[in-house]
Amino acid sequence: MPVSIQPKPASFSRVTITELMIPSYANFGGKIHGGILLSLMDKVAYAAASKHSGAYCVTVSVDTVNFLQPVEVGELVSLKASVNHVGNSSMIIGIKVVSENVKTGVVKHTNTCYFTMVAKGEDDKPTTVPPLLLETRTDVRRFVEAIKRKNYKREYDLLLNQVKRNWDQEAISSLLDGQRCVVSTSIQ
Ligand SMILES: CC(C)(COP(=O)(O)OP(=O)(O)OC[C@H]1O[C@@H](n2cnc3c(N)ncnc32)[C@H](O)[C@@H]1OP(=O)(O)O)[C@@H](O)C(=O)NCCC(=O)NCCS
Repeated sequence: MPVSIQPKPASFSRVTITELMIPSYANFGGKIHGGILLSLMDKVAYAAASKHSGAYCVTVSVDTVNFLQPVEVGELVSLKASVNHVGNSSMIIGIKVVSENVKTGVVKHTNTCYFTMVAKGEDDKPTTVPPLLLETRTDVRRFVEAIKRKNYKREYDLLLNQVKRNWDQEAISSLLDGQRCVVSTSIQ
């Protein structure tokens, strides 16, 4: 069945997941595993993307996941997701993660990141998603920022490919100069 092409507001697919951080989520240091948080981010990104598209979605790319503060056992983690940008079949989902200490009421912002999700049709091929109806200045800002991030990423990928292609021994030696590494004599 074709997906609706009527624009849908960003508010339609805004989703929040809240989860209690239980002891089995902790690492040896007693803090919550980064992987647990990543899994929750993937879940909330899927919820927002599938709601906007009305289709099954897959995760294609994860952008800028920085863990700014540790999350403790017993805290309530909330992940707020919204569709910030849509392409043809892709959607960029912005996710804000906050963690609350229920005893003290202190809420900390642990990270913000961006997941790119693609909607798939019954044939398992990318399928067109509805345009995004931007209802507020914040919706517009998020959409424009997503375009800028996409452009920067394209430039970054091009530059990185150039670096990989131009294997310049002199440039490499100068980059390694002063770094905390030792180049094995067998490859010099
Ligand atoms: C992502 C996937 C659907 C792309 O399929 P494809 O046949 O190459 O389709 P296209 O090239 O038309 O790309 C589809 C969309 O994905 C976007 N896309 C593809 N690779 C991307 C990347 N690395 N980063 C961001 N967007 C990407 C394209 O820009 C396009 O967006 P648009 O339709 O809005 O213009 C396909 O590679 C796939 O199914 N990957 C596996 C996803 C998965 O299993 N995820 C779970 C992780 S374990």
